[in-house]
Order: sequence, then C-alpha cells, then structure tokens
Amino acid sequence: MRAAPFGLCRFWLGLAMGLLLASDSGLVSAKRYLRCELAKKLLDPPYRFDRSLLSNWICLLEHESDLDTSRITSNPNGTRNYGLFQINSRFCQEGRRGGICNVKCEDLLEENLMEASVCAKRIHSSDGFQHWNGWQRHCRNTQNLPNLRVICGI
Ligand SMILES: *[C@@H]1O[C@H](CO)[C@@H](O)[C@H](O)[C@H]1NC(C)=O
Repeated sequence: MRAAPFGLCRFWLGLAMGLLLASDSGLVSAKRYLRCELAKKLLDPPYRFDRSLLSNWICLLEHESDLDTSRITSNPNGTRNYGLFQINSRFCQEGRRGGICNVKCEDLLEENLMEASVCAKRIHSSDGFQHWNGWQRHCRNTQNLPNLRVICGI
C-alpha cells in the first residue's frame, strides 16, 4: 500500500516529462534568435551571407520578424508573410512546395534557415533590400545599422 502514492507520483512525473518532450519536438521547430547568435550563424557555412551586407540583413530581420522564425503576418491584400525574412506567400506555396522560390511556406518558419535564406537571397538579388518595408523604414540610413564588429566581435 505504501508503494501506491509513490507509483502515482512517478506516473504524473512521467506524463509531465512526456508532454514536455512532445511539445519540444513538434513538426516545425521554431526559434527566436539573439542578434549576435544569428549574425554569426548567417556568416558561417552553410548560409555564408556576405559580410559586407550582414548589418543590413540583421537590421532588416530585427524590424521584419524580431528575429523570430515562427512569425506569420497577414497583409491587407490577403497574402501572408512567413518567418524570419517575412517572405511573401507569392514566393512560396502553403501546404506544399511552390511559388517563385519553389518552397513550402511552412518550411520558412523553421529554426533551420536553409530554405528561407536561399529564397531571401534570391529576392535580394532581384529587388535589393528595398523589397522589405522594414529595411526601407529603419535600415536605409546606414547610421541606423548595427556595428556588428563592436557589438558581436565579428
Ligand atoms: C500583397 O502585399 C504584399 C505586402 O505589401 C506584397 O509583397 C505582395 O506583392 C502583394 N501581393 C499582391 C498579389 O498584390
């Protein structure tokens, strides 16, 4: 009889651990990055963003998504913007691969930035940073760009 409450306790503990693990291993693993963490990540392989443009990208991402890969916003025209780079749904397709970048929109919400960064670089190479309102409003003036050398040591 003495073992019963102890067994019950272990049961609840096991259940709690199980739920914790389940919520942590969802299909899409999203992440809110810290500024320097993200800057270093984008600079390194496999992403390899151009060092000379990195402060523009970081400024853009801070104003577009607050460095949160799970961010989805709705536009007045009914389209949506997905993820860290707030990529518009004409570049992706909801539910399956498609759009200009041939990517699934939901995959742009992942902690892994491969699909999102390839698509963002593609947008940048055709439209430049002015494609993004967040960059136009807050980052166009180079005085507003973060000095990553000083702040992050990179
Ligand atoms: C809808 O609005 C977004 C954000 O302003 C824009 O990027 C996109 O091109 C627009 N799409 C259409 C079909 O007008």
